Amino acid sequence: MSCFMSLGFYLCLWLLPVRTSAAVKEDIEVLVILPKNNSYIFSLARVAPAIEYARQRMKSSGGLYSGLNFNMRYEDSGCGNDALFSLVDSCCEKKPNLVLGPVCEYAAAPVVRMASHWNIPVISAGALASGFRDKETEYSHLTRISPSYLKMAETFAAMFHQFNWKEALLIYEDDKEERNCYFTLEGVHLKLMDQYNIAPLVINSKDERVNADEHIKLIYESEVVIMCAGADFVREIMLAAHRRRLTNGSYIFFNIELFNNTSYGNGSWMRGDKYDNEARQAYSALKTVTLLRTVKPEFENFSLEVKRSIQMARLPDCENCDNINMFVEGFHDALMLYAMALHEAIRHGFSKNHGAEITKHMWNRTFEGIAGQVSLDVYGDRYGDFSVMSMTDPDAGTYQTVCNYFGVNESFQMLPGFDPEHFTLKGRHRVAHTDQPDLKSCELGVSGLTVIIVGSLLGTAMLMAFYFFRKNYRITIERRMTQEECDIGKHRQLREDSIRSNFSAA
Ligand SMILES: *[C@@H]1O[C@H](CO)[C@@H](O)[C@H](O)[C@H]1NC(C)=O
Ligand SMILES: *[C@@H]1O[C@H](CO)[C@@H](O)[C@H](O)[C@H]1NC(C)=O
Ligand SMILES: *[C@@H]1O[C@H](CO)[C@@H](O)[C@H](O)[C@H]1NC(C)=O
Ligand SMILES: *[C@@H]1O[C@H](CO)[C@@H](O)[C@H](O)[C@H]1NC(C)=O
Ligand SMILES: *[C@@H]1O[C@H](CO)[C@@H](O)[C@H](O)[C@H]1NC(C)=O
Ligand SMILES: *[C@@H]1O[C@H](CO)[C@@H](O)[C@H](O)[C@H]1NC(C)=O
Ligand SMILES: *[C@@H]1O[C@H](CO)[C@@H](O)[C@H](O)[C@H]1NC(C)=O
Ligand SMILES: *[C@@H]1O[C@H](CO)[C@@H](O)[C@H](O)[C@H]1NC(C)=O
Repeated sequence: MSCFMSLGFYLCLWLLPVRTSAAVKEDIEVLVILPKNNSYIFSLARVAPAIEYARQRMKSSGGLYSGLNFNMRYEDSGCGNDALFSLVDSCCEKKPNLVLGPVCEYAAAPVVRMASHWNIPVISAGALASGFRDKETEYSHLTRISPSYLKMAETFAAMFHQFNWKEALLIYEDDKEERNCYFTLEGVHLKLMDQYNIAPLVINSKDERVNADEHIKLIYESEVVIMCAGADFVREIMLAAHRRRLTNGSYIFFNIELFNNTSYGNGSWMRGDKYDNEARQAYSALKTVTLLRTVKPEFENFSLEVKRSIQMARLPDCENCDNINMFVEGFHDALMLYAMALHEAIRHGFSKNHGAEITKHMWNRTFEGIAGQVSLDVYGDRYGDFSVMSMTDPDAGTYQTVCNYFGVNESFQMLPGFDPEHFTLKGRHRVAHTDQPDLKSCELGVSGLTVIIVGSLLGTAMLMAFYFFRKNYRITIERRMTQEECDIGKHRQLREDSIRSNFSAA
């Protein structure tokens, strides 16, 4: 008898940890805030099937998370303030326990601030701008499930270190609306500026004609040219550089194209015009930095299911909508990550309302995402893996990935196509070509700004644009026409004009 009792006692002890790690039952309100407009590659219609897939899989697996009942609510964020209004409206009815999205920087900033204030965790596959790394205060509840621009910039920092480059010119196209290229190169600027000589050059994407010859003058002054711009603009620059023989190995050219798979690699030089041949030669000096994509067996089923849902929905105006991209994968993994963190938090005696605690469980951890391993750093930002592509067959003009950068262990992997010659600066000696290029760029910047200011005033009465204007205007008038001040002004513009300062001005 006593034997049985003690056996029962030990059984209980043995069962106890099993019971506490069993599935917890919980209703979770999830608010998904993404744009409805399918011209965004992270539109609701594209991402929702991935989130539903994650939800279904957790429910039907019978595993640890099968007791979590996610009530999804999908709201249109647009790419601006609508996102905030969605959050506020939804909170008046029933506060969500989790917010997924927004992706656009200007939509995400106020939503994350508000949600952090309300102690609601936010997971986004976007909000990639450097400003969001401030997790101490205003973005305390934000977890970024995709690598931010600052993580991407590590790829450049590693290359600069490895190949001993010293100077860079950052050329970016700015639409003054979503500003993806601005934020992309802001990350590179922040990462490199302490150790290297970095000069930014902004091109107003609304300008009718791009004067590549003007921009070329600045290239003479640098070693490495890093571009984030539309495909046509990149081609103009490369052609202009090629005509001045800057593609002979004395300069290194990069463009950054993280998401749009149609516009890089093989044939990105090809337009079917009379410059194709020249462009192919020019592009042999151009390398492209892009996301490293991985797949694994589970991904196949996920991909098929998501594609099927999207095709069944027969969305109008949805080109290549069934393309699985970083955002689609990211939001799938976001729901999984939340489930893991919530489960742990509950086991530690907290509830779904303890947003800060749940957020803490999401950071500094590694788990298996749908496409591969996902590692988040201690600030809840994902480590990134990136590929560098280069033209490996100059006759055919085809591209291959030549090296990969792994953020989690900060290491490079050189692939068979890698040719160190292409990464070595050759015949460096300062070219005596100083017809005041710095002054020129400053003038250019100012006139560009004026155009933007006038354009935004006429074109839209948006409040945001107004604050931009105020901010930029202040910088413009403060700027003196001496070379030194010109440079300081530009640096300040890149650094200050971040998500944070734009919104704190408002
Ligand atoms: C979606 O966005 C595109 C590009 O910004 C725009 O041309 C189009 O009119 C928008 N569609 C809708 C339905 O708002
Ligand atoms: C781009 O497409 C190629 C071929 O379809 C694929 O191998 C690669 O992973 C894609 N890259 C991205 C960033 O989507
Ligand atoms: C991708 O790039 C192509 C070629 O530059 C362009 O026509 C297309 O609009 C881009 N798509 C997106 C979603 O940015
Ligand atoms: C994906 O997996 C699920 C469950 O394992 C299965 O029911 C479904 O048919 C699979 N889908 C495809 C397209 O293979
Ligand atoms: C992150 O996790 C590792 C082990 O998983 C731990 O050793 C380390 O202390 C953690 N760092 C922080 C800041 O929590
Ligand atoms: C480019 O073309 C080559 C040869 O056709 C092919 O092996 C390679 O995978 C292609 N690369 C991309 C990025 O499409
Ligand atoms: C770094 O991590 C990647 C991917 O996890 C792995 O393939 C690679 O071997 C690692 N490199 C080193 C030097 O540990
Ligand atoms: C490449 O061209 C530039 C400009 O014409 C020249 O200064 C440089 O010496 C050349 N480099 C090599 C390796 O030929």
